[in-house]
Amino acid sequence: MDALEAIRKRRSVRRYTDKPVSDADVEELVRLALIAPSGGMSQAWSIIVVRSDAGRAKMADLITRGGAEYFRTVRPAAEGTSPDEHAEWAKGYAGTVLETYPKVPVWILALRVPRGKMPADQAKWERDTDMTSVGFMVENLLVAARAKGLGTVPTVFQWYVEDEFREAFAIPDEVEIPLVTPLGYPEEFPTSLPPALQKIRRPWKTLVHDEAWGNARA
Ligand SMILES: Cc1cc2nc3c(=O)[nH]c(=O)nc-3n(C[C@H](O)[C@H](O)[C@H](O)COP(=O)(O)O)c2cc1C
Repeated sequence: MDALEAIRKRRSVRRYTDKPVSDADVEELVRLALIAPSGGMSQAWSIIVVRSDAGRAKMADLITRGGAEYFRTVRPAAEGTSPDEHAEWAKGYAGTVLETYPKVPVWILALRVPRGKMPADQAKWERDTDMTSVGFMVENLLVAARAKGLGTVPTVFQWYVEDEFREAFAIPDEVEIPLVTPLGYPEEFPTSLPPALQKIRRPWKTLVHDEAWGNARA
């Protein structure tokens, strides 16, 4: 599969099989990720590869609990439900949507490692640059994984269980954890967005402005 097709066919995958991913594939993917562009060539990033049984079990547990907290806080409660009932719903929903996460053979953690290359009064810009670069790095990995028939999904559920997450993977305080992703063979590759998301996809012509802001194509 070429790069254009991989970009077109990449989809967030949330259901995985336990089929192992080869060492060679994991190594190739992290090396492709790490040749992404980085602001000032700072390479303000690192990757943690989690493949051990203990690490994977911890990850599935933390991400599912973090997911429950995400759903509890971000999704509106159904009318007439108490906060406790809503929390129970969120737990059940995360458990269902992320049900196969214990099977995921590899987890990739994309980290921001500040390098302090810009003056202190530009720290915000440095962080923005670093985070953008981490995004490019992760996108390289997502697209390359798709080309190999492997599924991924950029995930931020770790933020909701951050202290435990840092402890589990020995991540120092100054290192940020913008994204993690499972890496594995999907039960099947989604061929389109779910209908609810398809409905909210903005037509590309409304997002492209010619020459200056305001001249959107539609
Ligand atoms: C920065 C970022 C954070 C995301 N966080 C999560 C997440 O925590 N959990 C999750 O299941 N999906 C997450 N996603 C995946 C999006 O929900 C998904 O990309 C979007 O719905 C479009 O679907 P697609 O990736 O199949 O095109 C995230 C995506 C991005 C870019």
